[in-house]
Amino acid sequence: MAKRKEDFIIKENRRLNNDLFILELTGNNQIPSLKPGQFAQVKIEGSPETFLRRPISIHDVDYERNTIRFLVQIAGKGTERLSKLKQGETLNIIYPLGNSFTLPPENAKILLIGGGCGVAPLMFLGKYLKSKGFRPEILLGFRNSDRIIEYDEYAGIGPVYLTTEDGSKGEKGFITDHTVMKESHFDHICCCGPELMMKAVAGYCSKNDINCEVSLEHLMACGFGVCLCCVVNTVNGNLCTCIDGPVFNTKELKW
Ligand SMILES: Cc1cc2nc3c(=O)[nH]c(=O)nc-3n(C[C@H](O)[C@H](O)[C@H](O)COP(=O)(O)OP(=O)(O)OC[C@H]3O[C@@H](n4cnc5c(N)ncnc54)[C@H](O)[C@@H]3O)c2cc1C
Ligand code: FES
Repeated sequence: MAKRKEDFIIKENRRLNNDLFILELTGNNQIPSLKPGQFAQVKIEGSPETFLRRPISIHDVDYERNTIRFLVQIAGKGTERLSKLKQGETLNIIYPLGNSFTLPPENAKILLIGGGCGVAPLMFLGKYLKSKGFRPEILLGFRNSDRIIEYDEYAGIGPVYLTTEDGSKGEKGFITDHTVMKESHFDHICCCGPELMMKAVAGYCSKNDINCEVSLEHLMACGFGVCLCCVVNTVNGNLCTCIDGPVFNTKELKW
C-alpha cells in the first residue's frame, strides 16, 4: 500500500494515567484501509532535539468517523511533546508503515498478549479479528491495578484475563504464569510488549507447538528501510524491523 505523508488534526488528547495518553486524530482525506500491526512515523514539531520522526502503532481506526487513535507512553522528549498537543493542533504522520499480523486459519483459538504500553496494536488487531468472525481471548499484564487501561474496550472484543506484578488486580505475577496459559490450548498467539516478556511467550509457544507472532519495538530512524538501524537477526538473514516487520513469527527470530 502506498505510503502517505499527511497532516492530521488532533480531535482529542486524553490522559489515561501519569505517562500514558491517547491521541485521536482526524484526517482531511479518507483514511485508507489499514492493517493491524502497522505503524506511523510521527513528526515532532518545533523540537530540534527530536528531528527524527517517532514510530507509533495504529491503536485503533474508525473509518466512519475518519479517525485514528494512538496510545502513547511518555518515554522521552518526543513523546513528552506529543502529550502536550491540544485539540485542533496539527500532527504530520507518514503511514501506513510495516507489515501486519497474519490472519490465522478459520476456527483457530487465538490469544492476544500485551504488557504495559505494548497493548497498543492489540486493540485494532482484536477488533479486526472479531470483524472477521474470530473470538480472540486477551491476556494483559500490568505493574499494578492503577496501570490497567481500556479494560472495558478489550472486554467488548473477547474474554479478558489480567495479571499484575503486585497482585492488586487479576492474578499475581507475570503473564506466562497466568492460569489460562496452563489450562487452555491456543493455536495462535499474538504478543506485544517488553522484549523479555515476548521472549518468554515465544519460549512457551515453542514448547507447546503454538504459532506465535510478536511485534518488535526496535529503535528506528527512517522507518522505511534506508538507514538500517532497525536490523534484526532472523533465520532468513538480517531483516529491517520497519519494512520486513514490525511483526515477526517467532520461528523466524534468532532470539
Ligand atoms: C514499530 C514501533 C511501534 C511503536 N509503537 C508505539 C506505541 O504505539 N506507543 C508508544 O508509546 N510507543 C511506541 N513505540 C516506541 C516509541 O517509538 C518510543 O518510545 C519513542 O520513539 C520514544 O521517543 P522519545 O523522543 O519520547 O524518547 P527518546 O528520548 O528517543 O528515548 C527515550 C528512551 O526510550 C528509548 N526508546 C526510544 N525509542 C524506542 C523504541 N522504539 N523502543 C523502545 N525504547 C525506545 C530510548 O532508548 C530511551 O531510553 C513504538 C516503536 C516501534 C519501533
Ligand atoms: S528504521 Fe531505517 S531502515 Fe528501518
